[in-house]
Amino acid sequence: MIYFDNGATSFPKPPQVASAVMAALAAPASPGRSGHAAAMSAGRTVHRARKAMARLFGIKDNSRLCFGPNVTWALNAALFGLNLQKGDHVLSGTLEHNSTARPLDRLRRERGVDWEAVPSRGGRMLAEDFKSRLRPETRLIVLNHASNVTGALAPAREIKEAAGGVPLLLDAAQTAGSVPLDDAGDWVDLLAFTGHKGLLGPTGTGGLYVSPEIELLPFSVGGSGSRSESLEHPGFLPDALEAGTANTHGLAGLAAGVEYLLERGVPAVREHELGLAGLFLEKIGGVPGVSVQGPKLGEEDRVAAVSLNLAGWSSSDLAAALEREHGILVRPGLHCAPLTHRELGTFPGGSARFSFGPFNTADEIAAGARALASLAAGGGR
Ligand SMILES: Cc1ncc(COP(=O)(O)O)c(C=O)c1O
Repeated sequence: MIYFDNGATSFPKPPQVASAVMAALAAPASPGRSGHAAAMSAGRTVHRARKAMARLFGIKDNSRLCFGPNVTWALNAALFGLNLQKGDHVLSGTLEHNSTARPLDRLRRERGVDWEAVPSRGGRMLAEDFKSRLRPETRLIVLNHASNVTGALAPAREIKEAAGGVPLLLDAAQTAGSVPLDDAGDWVDLLAFTGHKGLLGPTGTGGLYVSPEIELLPFSVGGSGSRSESLEHPGFLPDALEAGTANTHGLAGLAAGVEYLLERGVPAVREHELGLAGLFLEKIGGVPGVSVQGPKLGEEDRVAAVSLNLAGWSSSDLAAALEREHGILVRPGLHCAPLTHRELGTFPGGSARFSFGPFNTADEIAAGARALASLAAGGGR
């Protein structure tokens, strides 16, 4: 099997991730609940994950880093927690994933929030296009840091600088662990991440960093292991957003994945992944019938996802033939990003996305390009 679907979830994980999950499973896991030794140890496991994440993002107060099941949870916690109301204006890009587009659409329909999606310029988001749309009522900018379809990186820092103090909610699903974000704590107001992609952790892990200037209303309340005498859920972080027992087993794996990244270095991972994407683009350049979707990107403005179509093939037939004939796993379709595919002109059929990770090799890239060339030449039908 050749795995080119790291944009969906990373594989393989560093071996220490599985060992950490197994070790956590072998002990009771009720962090922040009982006071016995096993509960204290589970608490230290969660703390270790918080510490690793805080180091990765340059966050000074790691209690502002809240864990939940994935980035979808984090984005919902931010969008619904801000208590946006009728007339509030929210800007986003058009290269958003449904995990921001659907909550924003719901806020528009149910609360009258004025959501405006800024069009891209040929698949690139520009800071000036956000700046020119700011209004006195603009309460938030929501931004997908890198398109999960084309791999185009958004100029997030420039957009924040142009925002005149409007808070930025950054969807770092495709960049956390793959693009250096070690100063994010200094300029991102709300940073949403998922543990199972570039952070190399298990599914069921993710979280939200909330900067000190932002206050969120929790949309889920319940047991927190703190202030138990009161019916009111605690207002302090991380407890305010962490109702219910934490996923200690998953967080043990997330800590191991992030510690691996910190040791290897995110810049080194980025260089490796960009090298693979560049090699792939070079090798498929001459394959007849292949069209790469999205803008022509340089190394500085992309992550390692490449979307393409092959003339005469639907994206799903192409993905199925790649798996059947060549054992290559890619993701076809709309990638939960219909707005992006509409802009690219690939709606509703979508594209086949090849997304590379820290453990892919140049030999696998060569095999992927050969497979496409063989299908283009009539194989696999
Ligand atoms: C840009 C982007 N945002 C959000 C998500 C949702 O991630 P999760 O399913 O882990 O919540 C994804 C995953 O595909 C993504 O690529």
